Amino acid sequence: MRQRTLGSSGLSVSAIGLGCMGMSVCYGPRDEDAAVETIRHALDTGVTLLDTADAYGDGHNEELVGRAVKGRRHEAVIATKFGIRSLSGGPAGGPLIDSTPAYARQACDASLSRLGVDHIDLYYLHRRNPDVPVEDTMGALAELVQAGKVRHIGLSEVSADTLRRAHAVHPVTALQSEYSLWERELEDEILPAARELGIGIVPYAPVGRGFLTGALTSLDQLADDDYRRNDPRFQGDHLARNLALVETVRATAARIGCTPVQLALAWLLSQGEDIVPIPGTKRIAYLTENTQAAGVSLPEPERRALQEAISRHAVSGARYAEPAMRLLNT
Ligand SMILES: NC(=O)c1ccc[n+]([C@@H]2O[C@H](COP(=O)([O-])OP(=O)(O)OC[C@H]3O[C@@H](n4cnc5c(N)ncnc54)[C@H](OP(=O)(O)O)[C@@H]3O)[C@@H](O)[C@H]2O)c1
Repeated sequence: MRQRTLGSSGLSVSAIGLGCMGMSVCYGPRDEDAAVETIRHALDTGVTLLDTADAYGDGHNEELVGRAVKGRRHEAVIATKFGIRSLSGGPAGGPLIDSTPAYARQACDASLSRLGVDHIDLYYLHRRNPDVPVEDTMGALAELVQAGKVRHIGLSEVSADTLRRAHAVHPVTALQSEYSLWERELEDEILPAARELGIGIVPYAPVGRGFLTGALTSLDQLADDDYRRNDPRFQGDHLARNLALVETVRATAARIGCTPVQLALAWLLSQGEDIVPIPGTKRIAYLTENTQAAGVSLPEPERRALQEAISRHAVSGARYAEPAMRLLNT
């Protein structure tokens, strides 16, 4: 697996990482042993960047990652996150976001303990509470770096202005935000700001929460508790319109000889050397398909035609339901 470097402070990671969230929440039935096998297979095949968060299953996902890397800590680059204190204890029954320095310290210790490690390679603020100055949060994170508990700092779904303010306190290594063929809002202001500052980009939901596989055509295919049942882009008319777009992905993939998922990942990788997508899967077969995308070459005319066809304006529906939308770009 090729390596890429995140940020000017130089965190070397596999060009494609592994998103572990679905092993605990969101995308249907789960199997802990199979998930651990998938993570270990990722390490076996040179995928080093493992993405988790304290919020995924109330710590369950971090424990799972900890179990998988036991005895192999040096092979993994562990990225985890804090800041979502509860999913329903906040305003209007939405998430409770806590980015105070005291909570950063408390959450870091709890994550280290669940992961069973003595340091976190990349520690993200998952969501920001705009009432807490980002300078204060970064100050606490910088102290965690000094204490040796954290190696690199990241932010998730913040605005260009917040990125600049944060980076002025301590170098930010990575911005993790949603970015894919069907979610490109980042390109207007945030991506240019990250590039100007030398901050790496870690696109989450890079295969559109499974949509860009082309296989998901109806909510009836999903388990009752699947997150996508409440995702606007998967609902009714939005889904119907978006399915027309995915046909373009399918057709382009067929022309260049890869699968739709591989095309979605190859497109992201072609957007710049500073981009490291973290497709999420529970399964070794999908992991293998996804990592092979690093070897797919996407001819420039196909790349341009594809991104023009799937422009932001053509995609139907918001990318989150309210109130989660209000937590973005803070
Ligand atoms: N910072 C944030 O706020 C934030 C938000 C969301 C996610 N994340 C992180 O980003 C990671 C990736 O995002 P995501 O998991 O939400 O979305 P994603 O990677 O776009 O899609 C995951 C879904 O696609 C399916 N899938 C993956 N590869 C496939 C393949 N080759 N063929 C068929 N289906 C495939 C998975 O199936 P299976 O589950 O059946 O394997 C899962 O249902 C997460 O795991 C998490 O670590 C971060």
